[in-house]
Amino acid sequence: MVELLRTISDLRARLSAIRRNGAAIGLVPTMGALHAGHGRLLEKAVTDGGFVVASIFVNPTQFHREDDFQSYPRDLATDLAFCERRNVDAAFVPDADEMYAGEPLTSVVVSGLTEHLCGPQRPGHFEGVATVVTKLLNIVQPDRAYFGEKDRQQLVVIRRVVKDLDIPVEIVGVPTVREPDGLALSSRNQLLSSEERQAATVLYRAIRKAEELVQAGETCPGEVMKQGLAVFESEPSARVEYFEVVDPEQLQPVDEIKAPVLIAGAAHLGATRLIDNILVEARE
Ligand code: PAF
Repeated sequence: MVELLRTISDLRARLSAIRRNGAAIGLVPTMGALHAGHGRLLEKAVTDGGFVVASIFVNPTQFHREDDFQSYPRDLATDLAFCERRNVDAAFVPDADEMYAGEPLTSVVVSGLTEHLCGPQRPGHFEGVATVVTKLLNIVQPDRAYFGEKDRQQLVVIRRVVKDLDIPVEIVGVPTVREPDGLALSSRNQLLSSEERQAATVLYRAIRKAEELVQAGETCPGEVMKQGLAVFESEPSARVEYFEVVDPEQLQPVDEIKAPVLIAGAAHLGATRLIDNILVEARE
């Protein structure tokens, strides 16, 4: 039975008993609406062993549009059953008053890594993510914390926070899970109409096209971006927000492509914004 813990003090009391018994603690931070991509994170955490906590908190400070926050899917009963089926030990489900009591004046800002990709269009987003993740790491004090590679910029930002602030945790990146047609799993996919769902594969197709060019030896980022963007012409209902080729650690555009390189994009299908990326580690 997954234990439901709603307050920081209850969670801390439970975890200190676990620590006294010598067990390692794994944390899987989520905003709920759990899907097979989260399933992969939870399974990895459970396989790695110890006591596994999933946090479920739709963090208001990382949404820069109120309508996006309001429409974010929420279904706690289904999420708890999902955790239960994967043998998660505890779910930490605080409300916003618990997480942000007393109007906090402190936040975590990561400069540089947020100038490209999702950063420019989502002001304050990564500050919200970095702050809530730092709080969750301080609350749970896990040995390992698990994040999906679909949100690659988030993963890079969190690794940097942990390094810069000397937070004693291992950050484990988990590969993206995809639908058979390539669409990366996302809690937002359930907001797509059936036409939008069909059109949504264009993002993955564009990134794959760019990956193929890089693998074939193309070194000019402009050419890779041009041909990737051309794929979106087949799907006029999709609005491209960005399509970039960047250094996978600094997340800055490259002048010349040498693997490893990160190809990442974001597109809007109706009111829903989707992101995806592929890391080209080495040329084949
Ligand atoms: O990836 C997410 O679901 C969120 O950004 C996270 C890491 C749980 C922080 O709210």
